[in-house]
Amino acid sequence: MPNDRGRVEGKVAIVTGAASGLGKADAIRLAEEGAAVVLTDIDAAAGQAVAEECGGTFIEQDVGDESTWPTLIEKTIAGHGRLDVLVNNAGIAPLGDIETTTTEIWRKTLRVHLDATFFGCHYAMPMLKQSGGGSIINMSSTAALVAMAPYLAYSAAKGGIRSMTKAIAAYGRRQTNPVRCNSIHPGSILTPMVQSALETGTGFKIAETDDPEATRIAMGIGEPQDVANLVLFLASDESKHINGAELVIDNGSPTPSRPK
Ligand SMILES: NC(=O)c1ccc[n+]([C@@H]2O[C@H](COP(=O)([O-])OP(=O)(O)OC[C@H]3O[C@@H](n4cnc5c(N)ncnc54)[C@H](O)[C@@H]3O)[C@@H](O)[C@H]2O)c1
Repeated sequence: MPNDRGRVEGKVAIVTGAASGLGKADAIRLAEEGAAVVLTDIDAAAGQAVAEECGGTFIEQDVGDESTWPTLIEKTIAGHGRLDVLVNNAGIAPLGDIETTTTEIWRKTLRVHLDATFFGCHYAMPMLKQSGGGSIINMSSTAALVAMAPYLAYSAAKGGIRSMTKAIAAYGRRQTNPVRCNSIHPGSILTPMVQSALETGTGFKIAETDDPEATRIAMGIGEPQDVANLVLFLASDESKHINGAELVIDNGSPTPSRPK
């Protein structure tokens, strides 16, 4: 029987870092398939614009600030009555190896990635259970699997997210209304974060090449839509038996997720 319902119709999803890149693509894709989406970001102007584009609701939030989380969950429940999906996506990627990483970079990176993912999961869990069970999707990185020397704090934070995800999955499956928790590990995906890392590292600008699309493919770099489709699958009931998994999305790229 054909089914014209959206793949996440009736679900309510929070996506952090939704003003740009992967979070923006995730929010749009979830909304296209019928979810009511609450978008958060520190960049209020860009976040509001994405919310208008996809018919979602924008709430300004610094994910590393614990006090913002209870308010975000309360506003989501007040506006939509339930919470089914949390996408912990917001992130930064400051450069720094073991010698050049300052304590400030270390703390800032762990705050935005590791602290924030903990806060999100901690404060969302009761509401996910109350809504009948749900899905948490934590954005890690291939840097969690084969660490990157120039991104020490980032690699450590993403590794922490990977392990925390599995502990939450083991907890969530035992609840009366089970909550799933999975991590996504993208390789390079063409977003403002990766464009700026490329430019900082090499001065290379994909957009200024003769054929940016061919260059992107030749460099093994994916598109935000590729990750958004995986987020959609994990948010939907199609993935109901997938819990505690680490899903690599890098088109078999030899680095950094796999040794050459
Ligand atoms: N693009 C990639 O190749 C890639 C690969 C692996 C993992 N990731 C991860 O995917 C996520 C999204 O990255 P992206 O490439 O889309 O980057 P991006 O820079 O395009 O977007 C990140 C978003 O997070 C927001 N943000 C930053 N700090 C925040 C804070 N304290 N509170 C709330 N929002 C904040 C930014 O304003 C921005 O809108 C990150 O967690 C990143 O580590 C990206």
